[in-house]
Amino acid sequence: MKDIIKDKLLSIDWDFKDSDTADLAHSLHPYHAKFIPQIPYILIKYLTREYDSVLDPFCGSGTTLVEALRLKRRSVGVDNSPLSCLLSNVKTTKIQQKKLEAACMELLKRVKKGGEPIIPDFPDRDKWFTFKNLNDLGLIWKNIDYFKNQDCDIYNFFRVVFSSILKTVANYKYHWNWAFIGDNVLPDKERKEIDVLKIFERKLQKSKKMLINLNNIITPTTVSAKIFDLDARKISCNIPTQFDLMITSPPYPCAVDFNRYYRLTYYWFGWDVNRYRDMEIGARSKRGKKDVIDKYKEELVDCILEIYNVMKRNSYSCFVIGNTQRKKEKIDAVNLIKEICKGAGFNFYIELNRRISKQSMAQKRIAEEKIIIFTR
Ligand SMILES: C[S@@+](CC[C@H](N)C(=O)[O-])C[C@H]1O[C@@H](n2cnc3c(N)ncnc32)[C@H](O)[C@@H]1O
Repeated sequence: MKDIIKDKLLSIDWDFKDSDTADLAHSLHPYHAKFIPQIPYILIKYLTREYDSVLDPFCGSGTTLVEALRLKRRSVGVDNSPLSCLLSNVKTTKIQQKKLEAACMELLKRVKKGGEPIIPDFPDRDKWFTFKNLNDLGLIWKNIDYFKNQDCDIYNFFRVVFSSILKTVANYKYHWNWAFIGDNVLPDKERKEIDVLKIFERKLQKSKKMLINLNNIITPTTVSAKIFDLDARKISCNIPTQFDLMITSPPYPCAVDFNRYYRLTYYWFGWDVNRYRDMEIGARSKRGKKDVIDKYKEELVDCILEIYNVMKRNSYSCFVIGNTQRKKEKIDAVNLIKEICKGAGFNFYIELNRRISKQSMAQKRIAEEKIIIFTR
């Protein structure tokens, strides 16, 4: 039986060069180093059956969870970034189309009426945004706040849309095509006057359509996705489930800073960037520390042991990972994962190669990644 699966997996072209990677609200909000939905889709389809349970212990923007819903599998996502949990929740919660449309109209009507904006104070606030942009954002923010006590799902959806335009309307044009603001990047000196209300309205309408399309495939009575705002090193004592499949793309060492990259959102939402960054495995801003790679290995060992503990016997666990580098030193993350998994008790099953298109390369130096599958 397993060899048929192996043959199937080997016959697939994992590059997915011409495939649409943004359908089903996967592009609702930028998130760095997302994997393309085709990867979890195929793995879930071939390695599980309907109603089986799927875990993503570093669920990021919720790609695995959305694909699990599409295929009628139950899923659990874990991530210790509050932004990740918010995105994953919004993407996996069904909101009635009529209710969503009415709420969007109501929000825009309230924003157009004007009023007193709510603008939080945060580091370099007046450098990141012009006075006018700040006021317009504050006006939208105040009216989004109105929905907090009305409907939590709608409120969360509006917050995602709000967060998704922050980089666009900030004084920042360096690396315009990046979905994030580098961990050590400062605001531009040049001021950006831009029609914030129009940008928000456009993004709201586009996001509404995406969510409606996505909601059409969600059947919450039969399957659901649960999201835990949790450190991946603490899964087994918090989630009393045994899983049929695990799919994840773990954080790379010193490559990304998932919390600082979205700090404008953290500032507006009142989340403490530094607290979350300290818990983040592999955060880029820790790259200067001497023992950073050893620390990364230790943390990954703890996570993989946790994953092992919650997997059923004969289940599959899939890691999507590429090699990376720190300063000029190459880091063999692929072999590291293999070694740690072996040490934890997993059996190696198969390794699949994938070339990453230039456009979607999370990092210029990571042009290739592997999908490494283990059994337990
Ligand atoms: C490569 S991303 C996952 C992206 C995801 N596959 C997607 O498609 O959006 C890795 C994730 O690991 C999360 N992470 C880092 N340290 C963590 C920890 N200690 N516990 C849980 N999640 C963590 C980051 O917040 C980030 O969302």
